[in-house]
Amino acid sequence: MPASQQLAEVALRTGTLPDLPQGHFIDGGFRPAAAGRHMESFDPGSAAPFADFACGDADDVAAAVESARRAFENVWRDVPAAERGRVLQRAAGLIREEAARLAVVECLDSGKPLAEAEGDVRGAARAFEYYAGACDKLQGDTFPIGPGYLGYSHHEPVGVAAQIIPWNYPISTAARGIAPALAAGCAVVAKPAEQTPFTALLLAEILKRAGLPDGVCNVVTGTGAEAGAPLVAHPGIDHVTFTGSVATGIDVMKAAADNVTRVVLELGGKSPVIVLADCERERALDGVMGAIFENAGQICSAGSRLIVERSLHDGFVAELCRRAEALTLGHGLRNPQMGPVNSAAQLGRVAGFIERARGRGVAIATGGGETADPESGRGWFYQPTIVADCAAGDELVCEEVFGPVLTVQIAEDAEHALALANDSQYALVAGVYTRDFATAHRLAQRLDAGQVYINEYFAGGIEVPFGGNKKSGFGREKGLEGLLGYCRTKSVAARL
Ligand code: NAI
Ligand code: MG
Repeated sequence: MPASQQLAEVALRTGTLPDLPQGHFIDGGFRPAAAGRHMESFDPGSAAPFADFACGDADDVAAAVESARRAFENVWRDVPAAERGRVLQRAAGLIREEAARLAVVECLDSGKPLAEAEGDVRGAARAFEYYAGACDKLQGDTFPIGPGYLGYSHHEPVGVAAQIIPWNYPISTAARGIAPALAAGCAVVAKPAEQTPFTALLLAEILKRAGLPDGVCNVVTGTGAEAGAPLVAHPGIDHVTFTGSVATGIDVMKAAADNVTRVVLELGGKSPVIVLADCERERALDGVMGAIFENAGQICSAGSRLIVERSLHDGFVAELCRRAEALTLGHGLRNPQMGPVNSAAQLGRVAGFIERARGRGVAIATGGGETADPESGRGWFYQPTIVADCAAGDELVCEEVFGPVLTVQIAEDAEHALALANDSQYALVAGVYTRDFATAHRLAQRLDAGQVYINEYFAGGIEVPFGGNKKSGFGREKGLEGLLGYCRTKSVAARL
């Protein structure tokens, strides 16, 4: 039996896991909250608390920022790039060695199916591997400023980088922020979501074992209001990477503005998936299902608006409904096709969207109700839901639901599909399914989105820059552009 399954059985039997990290991770070690307070983390698959963690406040944040500042100025920024790369590479190896435990912890904390958590852990290892190789390729430039002069530039680390991490992809979001920050020579203070604190703590401890000097990567746990807000407002922070809701992103940007701190905002989405009549039907069906039902739809880049060409529509949507009804639901640790949503609050938000839609007379093609783990009768589950024939401008088409809810709109042709796709306050990603590559790339040029997926939704990995336009935010993570986000350019001009 694979190691992850053995551990999963322990967790299912006991309702928790042994040896979960205790306390914040500050200055190279675990320490309790300054005020001694704790919170509970819940297992969404059973709706029961399974472990305590430190509930931090401004004092813990201050200690973490001080520790990061010291480690940045005295140690990490002067560590040779190749050595930084070795530390990151060792971290990638340790993440792989510990993959089973990391995945089971992630699964218990977030609710997602074990196979998805395992994929997220592989993605986290890849982020460290990718940026390990990039450390010593951060090259500057030279400028032709004339005979008798020398002009050049190099990339300096920006300083201490804050990472505000959401609950939907805890370890992979932590890794995609922490790895490039460390690669650039920055120190980090991360604040995981209060729903899913544990894998960020485990990651910090792994980094220490990989040889990262004490204080370079700190993790403070707690709520957004008590720990997140003081972190982003702290004058010792030089850069904030925030992933989460638009409303909180606006607060974060305002707080950062007071210190003229740079921010990267990765906010919500309402991403369209355009399916044209000449697509490869099976591929499109698989793609649309994964785009909305992976992680129970709690994905910033979920493909939540299907825009399908009229001649394909009836059979395509009927088949989607059949597949949605056949999805197995259950506790994430039993590795179903779809798990619970992450919290009671999120379940209420999703249910509210559908209740309001019913109130407007919108017909629900399939799903549309709360449910439970069929084994235990517990947990925060919502049925895979498809809402056919939605009008542009309807709340369900305009707002991010962040749950397993797909809307369907009918397009007369590719141009009409493009217009429907771009009719959104969000612009994170867009998917296109067609066999005609000229059409695909013509659409890709004109779709308002940070990234476009052609014939495979979620294609690509850490190599590909990722981020949004419009209310989906700004700045790019992943790829070499993500690394440059943690750098500032210094140019030098000299008369010889
Ligand atoms: P949120 O944006 O409030 O929380 C995300 C993170 O920000 C958490 O770590 C939280 O503790 C922290 N935070 C909250 N207030 C803060 C503040 N004032 N300063 C600094 N950090 C703060 O999102 P929430 O309430 O968990 O979810 C609400 C909605 O947000 C969801 O229904 C979904 O639509 C969206 N969301 C989008 C995500 C994405 O991947 N883009 C991820 C999570 C939520
Ligand atoms: Mg939890």
